[in-house]
Parts: sequence; C-alpha cells; structure tokens
Amino acid sequence: MQLQLQTWQEIEAYLQTSRGIILPIGSTEQHGPNGLIGTDAICAEVIARGVGEAVGALVAPTISVGMAQHHLGFAGSMTLRPSTLIAVLEDMVGSLVRHGFERFYFLNGHGGNIATLAAAFSEIYASRSLSAASNTPPIKCRLKNWWQNQEVHDLAKELYGDSEGSHATPSEVAVTQFAYPGSIKSAVLDPPVAPRGDFADAADYRRKFPDGRIGSNPALATPEAGRRLYEAAVAAIAKDYQSWVAA
Ligand code: NI
Repeated sequence: MQLQLQTWQEIEAYLQTSRGIILPIGSTEQHGPNGLIGTDAICAEVIARGVGEAVGALVAPTISVGMAQHHLGFAGSMTLRPSTLIAVLEDMVGSLVRHGFERFYFLNGHGGNIATLAAAFSEIYASRSLSAASNTPPIKCRLKNWWQNQEVHDLAKELYGDSEGSHATPSEVAVTQFAYPGSIKSAVLDPPVAPRGDFADAADYRRKFPDGRIGSNPALATPEAGRRLYEAAVAAIAKDYQSWVAA
C-alpha cells in the first residue's frame, strides 16, 4: 500500500489497525558503466513495495537522494550532506508522528546512508528524551539494509561469489534489471572485477575507482537473478518487519 495512492480517510482507517510505516531510502549516484544512477533508490523502492503488499503495510514516498558525497566525481550523482539528510528525516518522521504513526521502518538501499540514518535516529530520540512531555507515544525507528539478511546473502554468494564486491554489485544491478527490463545497459568492464579499497572524498574515490565500481563485476547481472534476489529480500524483510512492528 503506497501512501501516495491513498486518501486521508484511508490513512485514518489504517492507523486504527497499525502504527507502522515502511520508508524506502536510497541514493542518486553513479553505479559504474552498466548500473543505473537510481539503482539504490530503485532497489529500496521495489523491495519496500513488495514487503508492503506482502504484509499489508503502508509504504511512504521514497527518499531518493541520500548521502553520496563520495560519488560526486561522476556525472549525475547527487548528495544531501549528512546534516541536510538528518533534517529531512526528522521532519518526515515528525509529520507522521503527528498523525499517530509510531514505528518507522527505513528500508535502505545505500551503504553511505547508514551512519547518517543512525545519527538521525539519535536526534529523533534525543528530541523526545529532552522534551518535558511524559505522555507522548513510544516512537521507534529501525534501519534495514535490503541486502543484509541470510537469504539475500546466501543467494548473492551462490550467484556471484567474490565478484559481488561492495559498490555497483551484480546483485543490485540485477534487481534494477528485474524492475526495469527496458533500461538494461551493457558496457565493457575492464578489469572484469573492479579494485577494492577505502576512500575519503569524491576526488579520492574517482582516483581509486576510475569507472565507479568497487570490487564488483556487474556484467554478471541478469533480470532473472534480480527476480530471485527481489523475492528473497521481500520474504526475509516481511518477516523482520512483522516481528518488529508487533513488539
Ligand atoms: Ni548501490
């Protein structure tokens, strides 16, 4: 159930049955020569919608621009600085709290968002802890990376082994190919498996990873593998959401 496709009366009725909402969050950043710039937002969005359908949960509009400063050396990448993203997350959660939502399940598609999401949760909790009000509802936030569960991990290992890497992975590219079969790209990848390592700012990243990939070979991606990864992620995350929202 997408929030954007409901009426306000339907949301009032939903709140009689559940106080939980799934918030997909991704990024708009380069994903190597054959990966879409929207990869992280697309993965988070389609998996969140699948989970929402599986468990009857409401899904918020996707937060499509994340914290991706290190990708700005590549055309088309966009970032919110951490402080901006924290402010966006606080205001989104604050809006929904006003209506009675209490459980905020952030389904994340981008590793670069993790530290900022954790800081945003601390800001949200700190505002409540410092407030004098004692009868406010108990607010809880959860961060779930779509690729971090046993099912997806095992499947990615089986499909791609050491060619999975950590950025522009064949798994995430495959999920976008499944979601948007009309936008599948091909490119020569040289070397086939990209170098690994750490990075600091955008210039440092571009110097170390000239085509944008880290440790991956996304030429191995297929839409059929994307369907399997999507189904594994939806099943695992639906279970996680249901047990968390009920607690
Ligand atoms: Ni990604």
